[in-house]
Amino acid sequence: MHPPPATAQVRVRRAEISDLDDLVALELRTFDGDRMSRDQYRRHLDSDTARVLVASANHRNFLGTAVVFFRKRSRVARLYSLASQPEARGKGIGTALVEGAEAAARQRKCHALRLEVRADNAAAIALYQRLGYERIGLLKTYYEDGADGWRYEKRLD
Ligand SMILES: CC(C)(COP(=O)(O)OP(=O)(O)OC[C@H]1O[C@@H](n2cnc3c(N)ncnc32)[C@H](O)[C@@H]1OP(=O)(O)O)[C@@H](O)C(=O)NCCC(=O)NCCS
Repeated sequence: MHPPPATAQVRVRRAEISDLDDLVALELRTFDGDRMSRDQYRRHLDSDTARVLVASANHRNFLGTAVVFFRKRSRVARLYSLASQPEARGKGIGTALVEGAEAAARQRKCHALRLEVRADNAAAIALYQRLGYERIGLLKTYYEDGADGWRYEKRLD
């Protein structure tokens, strides 16, 4: 498997049931704790209050994923999960997925997208700040291992 060239056109689409194996495998490769299970993914694929996105490029069908949650009476969407394949990082896949999440939130008439990120996750924080996300709160010992988090938000109006 080769990573796509830097010029790859990244396509973002809605995840389907046939993506389940890839979704679970990437989750296992990416996160040590706070993982989403196969059953949770399956439910989110079918849910009105979730949107699971997949990025592809250059004939590679599965390069990363983003999960967005919506709440019925809220106009604030939540970017719950974001990951790209380790060998394909730094080529715009994360960016395309976040933009896809923003588009999904706008489609649902949300006026903001929020997310939480580990305070020690420099790559993700740099990506969010480059895309215009603003730090709105510190989450003390937010993660399973006791790590702090930051809450970020971007206005979509
Ligand atoms: C965060 C993540 C999704 C980014 O995906 P990606 O496909 O590499 O995203 P992009 O190529 O669009 O952007 C990468 C950006 O990361 C930043 N970056 C990458 N490596 C970095 C590092 N070691 N230190 C600081 N910033 C870094 C840069 O800002 C880069 O942007 P640039 O291309 O303008 O320099 C990916 O690193 C990942 O899956 N990480 C593990 C899971 C994770 O942490 N998810 C976020 C949880 S909130």
